[in-house]
Amino acid sequence: MSKVELAKGVYWVGAIDWDLRYFHGYVTQRGSSYNSYLIVDEKVALIDTVKAPFVPELLSRIKEIIDLDKIDYLVSLHVENDHAGGIPAVLAACPNARLITSAPAGIKGLEAHFGPLEADLIKTGDILNLGTKSLHFVQTPMLHWPDNTMAFLPENGILFSSDAFGQHYASGIRFADEAPHEKLFHEAAKYYANIVMPYGAQTLKALDVAAKLAPKIIAPAHGLIWRDAKNIKQIAACYADWGAYKTKEKAVVVYDTMWGSTAQMATAITQAFIDNNIPVEKMALQQNHMSDVVVEMLEAKYAAIGSPTLNNNILPTVAAFLSYIKGLTPQGRVGLAFGSYGWSGQSPAQIQKAMQEMGWQTPLAPFKLVYRPKTEDLSSLQEAVKKLIE
Ligand code: FEO
Repeated sequence: MSKVELAKGVYWVGAIDWDLRYFHGYVTQRGSSYNSYLIVDEKVALIDTVKAPFVPELLSRIKEIIDLDKIDYLVSLHVENDHAGGIPAVLAACPNARLITSAPAGIKGLEAHFGPLEADLIKTGDILNLGTKSLHFVQTPMLHWPDNTMAFLPENGILFSSDAFGQHYASGIRFADEAPHEKLFHEAAKYYANIVMPYGAQTLKALDVAAKLAPKIIAPAHGLIWRDAKNIKQIAACYADWGAYKTKEKAVVVYDTMWGSTAQMATAITQAFIDNNIPVEKMALQQNHMSDVVVEMLEAKYAAIGSPTLNNNILPTVAAFLSYIKGLTPQGRVGLAFGSYGWSGQSPAQIQKAMQEMGWQTPLAPFKLVYRPKTEDLSSLQEAVKKLIE
């Protein structure tokens, strides 16, 4: 790929990871990119590096623009290895680059990974003067790590937003307005649901910051760059809704099954939502990865979760899913627990307890059926769904 210019003297120089399929628990069917940005002014700054194996790709892109010894600053906005993993190699290749990171979390995290480092430490309000351009720093802790920091380049209206507004989306294009709209926003939603969702309050704070800066371009650490006013408005509106945990009339039915009985219950529940005009997604955990289920749950008001009882417990697939969403903390949901059983039947109550621990409303008792559901059982389950909606 030839160099990509965001504005005069500001370049994307990152790397594209077409083959990435797994990102700490998240299945990334479309790969990802690690976005580094180069600002060439009287001083030259590189914002972030890339995952370590991609450093040669990063350096070759920089060398298309400028010699490596011309880089004055390496600005690390985030410690996680997909952006900071390349720091030791980049510092070795760029002998005049001075490391800049945030205090205290940035330097603490970098030194924990790489040992003692020489660095200039920045905090919110600090400005790095590059000559005609300048970088203004805003710390955005826990969006999604303690050290995440954004940098604003007011002379070009560019907000380097770190992980916020990203997507795991490998592509030959670099700008969001060049992408198929539905695919782009699906990947942005999947990224938010799986990475940012626990940090709703921090998201809303960052949105306030971004609104005051009124960026013309949002350059995230992953995926495509937002430069079209309509798209920027839409992704900001999405983040406002997602950060506030807003839900809409939508249901997700998530389950696993041993011999098909819990699957029959899931089918009956799904049909009940359809009959009551609630859009629904039925997602079996044998066929759907939990990171894809979570994106469907991002705005769904209703979540029906089902498991048969295995050895007095929830099936491991459903238990893993509950553990995953407990960490992601979707809030304000209405839950329904269900499952079939042979003799002990603990799992629906265990699922309901997990829902209550997440603060969800569970207006109905867990629904359990012995061995094979009878027609009348499924009818009463459908009546229960109707009550849940009412
Ligand atoms: Fe993309 Fe938190 O790293």
